Amino acid sequence: MRSLEKPAARTYDCSHAAPPLTTHVKFGALVTPLLPAPLPWVRCRAIALALVALIAAACSTSSAQRATPFAPLAFDTKARALVGRMTLAEKIGQMTQVDQLFLKDTADIERYALGSILNGGDSDPVAGNSLQAWRAMYEMYQGRAIRTRLHIPLIYGVDAVHGNNNVIGAVVFPHNIGLGATRDSALVRRIAEITAEETRAVGANWAFAPCICVPQDIRWGRSYEGFSEDPALVAMLGAAAVRGLQGANPIDRTHVAATAKHFAGDGGTSLGSGIDKRLDQGDTRVDSATLRRIHIRPYIDAIAAGVATIMPSYNSWNGVKVSGDRHLLTDVLKGELNFNGFLISDYKAVNQVHSDYKTAIGISINAGMDMVMVPEHYQEFIALLTELVQEGRVPMSRIDDAVTRILRVKFAMGLMEPGYDPHADHALEQRFGSAEHRAVARQAVRESAVLLKNERGALPLSRSARRIHVVGRSADDIGIQSGGWTIFWQGKAGNITTGGTTVLSAIRAGAGRGTQVTYSADGSGAAGADVVVVVVGEGPYAEMKGDRLELALDASDRQALANARAANSPVVVVVISGRPLDIAPVLADASAVLAAWLPGTEGGGVADVLFGDYRPTGKLSFTWPRSVDQTVRSAAGRDPLFPFGFGLTYQE
Ligand code: BGC
Repeated sequence: MRSLEKPAARTYDCSHAAPPLTTHVKFGALVTPLLPAPLPWVRCRAIALALVALIAAACSTSSAQRATPFAPLAFDTKARALVGRMTLAEKIGQMTQVDQLFLKDTADIERYALGSILNGGDSDPVAGNSLQAWRAMYEMYQGRAIRTRLHIPLIYGVDAVHGNNNVIGAVVFPHNIGLGATRDSALVRRIAEITAEETRAVGANWAFAPCICVPQDIRWGRSYEGFSEDPALVAMLGAAAVRGLQGANPIDRTHVAATAKHFAGDGGTSLGSGIDKRLDQGDTRVDSATLRRIHIRPYIDAIAAGVATIMPSYNSWNGVKVSGDRHLLTDVLKGELNFNGFLISDYKAVNQVHSDYKTAIGISINAGMDMVMVPEHYQEFIALLTELVQEGRVPMSRIDDAVTRILRVKFAMGLMEPGYDPHADHALEQRFGSAEHRAVARQAVRESAVLLKNERGALPLSRSARRIHVVGRSADDIGIQSGGWTIFWQGKAGNITTGGTTVLSAIRAGAGRGTQVTYSADGSGAAGADVVVVVVGEGPYAEMKGDRLELALDASDRQALANARAANSPVVVVVISGRPLDIAPVLADASAVLAAWLPGTEGGGVADVLFGDYRPTGKLSFTWPRSVDQTVRSAAGRDPLFPFGFGLTYQE
């Protein structure tokens, strides 16, 4: 249990090109990258813009755009009629989300008419972690909910953030930072469709994804959850993910409700203002124009794509917790941006709004929070919110608005159909973790890899090599290459018992018939090899536990590199990480460097690039700093190691 005490159509494919630029009516301004443009970028800019215009036109007629966006407002009358029949207790029940781990008695679902259950990080079914156990758990809870007086089913949430990543056997896709490097919105949409299908295979009908944060300081432990440091790129891929997760309107039984998170400014916190004087959950100290231009921008596109729910963030904006900020939640999000879905708080985030829990609940609900991820002491939450209403400190009109919003979404998802079936679609089991799904993940791994350096023809690797020596603790580790939010909240190094292919086994599978592939974690045994592939990287982490003050390579990786280099064979470095690391000190020692991000379970995609079966197309979605002084985006623009948009390829 965790403690919080705590080959699809490419969007553009021009080396060094900036992401597509789009305008938005409300915020008017054309959003361009904030950094001074490096020269190659400028050369490509005109071509990129022309391409963007063409592709935008093509996209506007694609099925992605034709699908009717999820429109809960169409169910307003039905939702209001139902609210009119509800008691205060039933209304507050709908606003309550409990982590199943903390359910004291499953009958509490009926007793409190709970609106939602979640499995937070590390909240596995009691019966263990398997597709069948997850499904049985879901069906048991949902079966309870439909026996309530008004038979309102649960909206059931999981953190399916790179595939249905909590469940053993699910395909695990690259984390968003890698998808940002693909610039491929059709691919991101397809990944989201598969994620939805594998989530629905266990029954859950709601994903707390996509994260559309715009990380501005890569020391932040959630940098990999963001597609890019650039708001326009995040907006484009975030909207694609929403469309893929939700599908057409209404959401059918192979799609899920999406959550754009964490609104707003989660990626903009100042160092020192967060947990343990670091970044996560800290304070974003920017003016309103900057908040809008960088951090709110992707929400405009997510709302246009019909996102059903939005998760307000833990962070503060200029000293005020966003989860209690009426201006941001009600005036901006629901008013100005016309968001018609509902707001789900982050895990225990309401507790942070005020030191007195009851006051905190009052502030947050009055600010516009509709459903609270309590997630533990739900009886206390329900009692306190009831008192607040009875004392007139939370008006009934606010409660009715919150419940109407929640029910509109439930109606739009088809949950309120007469005779609603509380079972998962068991036919989806066939496709769960299937070869077809894994092939899409492998394609995503190929497209996300960014070639940073390639000298003396080190890459692609030759299939006539006599011996390839692979080195590094990250080379043969599904847990490390998948990162945080994989089977465990924090992820876990080692064999995390889920399927997949490590980089080493993929190199073995891809090498020529006459090639011997040898391996050592520490770099020994490299002498005499034709080429040494050194896989360096970060161990898994999530959220605040990934905040770092420096981004140096791990000591064991540096040692492995030094050992490999001593063999005098060409050295190819593969970087497995949730953000750019400090590779400047070792760059000169490597003939080639490939950034593979956190590729997930399909390491075959990395080998495809190494052997040249796929010519690299990935472009940096984050500036790669030269030193730790450049980890803040505004500083990285000055002479970075590799600029935003950088990425080499192989010659024909
Ligand atoms: C994270 C969210 C996540 C939630 C539920 C929180 O700690 O910030 O991104 O959706 O937990 O697991």
